[in-house]
Amino acid sequence: MPESPDLTEVTPESIQGLVQGASAQLESIDDLESLEKWRVEYLGRRGRLTGVLRGLSQLDLEQRRVAGALGNQAKRQLEEELEQRTRKINDARLAKSAGQDRLDVTLPGRLPVTGRLHPTTQIVREICDAFIGMGFTVVEGPEVEWDHYNFEMLNIPKGHPARDMWNTLWIDHRNEAGEYPMLLRTHTSPMQARVMESMQPPVRVIIPGKCYRYEATDATHEWHFYQVEGLAVDDGITFADLKGTLYEFAKRLFGEDRKVRFRCDYFPFVEPGVDMSIDCFACHGEGEGCRLCRDSGWIEIMGAGMVHPKVLAGVGYDPEKYTGFAFGLGPERIAMLKYGIDDIRLFYSNDLRFLRQF
Ligand code: DAH
Repeated sequence: MPESPDLTEVTPESIQGLVQGASAQLESIDDLESLEKWRVEYLGRRGRLTGVLRGLSQLDLEQRRVAGALGNQAKRQLEEELEQRTRKINDARLAKSAGQDRLDVTLPGRLPVTGRLHPTTQIVREICDAFIGMGFTVVEGPEVEWDHYNFEMLNIPKGHPARDMWNTLWIDHRNEAGEYPMLLRTHTSPMQARVMESMQPPVRVIIPGKCYRYEATDATHEWHFYQVEGLAVDDGITFADLKGTLYEFAKRLFGEDRKVRFRCDYFPFVEPGVDMSIDCFACHGEGEGCRLCRDSGWIEIMGAGMVHPKVLAGVGYDPEKYTGFAFGLGPERIAMLKYGIDDIRLFYSNDLRFLRQF
């Protein structure tokens, strides 16, 4: 509470002293709260200057005239200084907050970084969709596989020269007989046996998944890649079903006007075995110097065949009753053909300039 003014001190000097003190104090204030305290102390209803002005009435006329004029001037001066100080403090506050949380709503937004599906994933899905549309179901299986499923159950016994068709990465683990029974699957075909062991016909499945081979890499060979396997087994399935299904697939993926060609090929787990080609959609068989088909007019896209009776018997199906067809294709190769990619190593070298194109 401000002291009540001592009337004997109401002189021009004491008023001047009061103003000087108040001004000096005001100079050092830089927050609104202290500013309000200062205002109450000097200019409030019971403030020091207000008290002085009120005390003037006690003075005689001459003193009152001089001191009154001085007092009023002092009041105006302090009020003016208070206003300036208030503005200064407010400006400083504004400048500070503008520096801290500036929000310019006219700036364009920052584009969020969006991910996308890997080209292999996209093509695997496209392949699967084509077969799902023909009644197939998607199944997946282990990438670390037993020799038993990868080879034995597919009619490739130990010592069989057909084993050399796959450059195998073996798992460093021996059984009691001193053999290596486990490997990174070299193809998705072992899933044929696994699926048939787990169910009775009719079977209609496709199996997408990763495979691994002990491979010196080049533009057309990777040590790991994907395959999509297919298997259909039932009473009365014929080679015509194989042809019809795969022809339909080729049209769905590569266009309605595709032609297909089947030629004999050897895979131990099918009989007869074939490779399937589509007519070259780049040169339509007419090009000279066509990079895609090397002027043959045909592009090989998968291996296929009628499931070997030994494979059927191996899983306990009666080969006299049931027949089926199987096929296996490489999605990276399909993508390379479809998009004109000339090096398979691009798929897994994590170069965003490549990946962002899909
Ligand atoms: N598994 C074979 C490979 O990796 C591809 C294949 C050929 C799969 C013929 C099949 C088939 O199902 O019938 O070379």
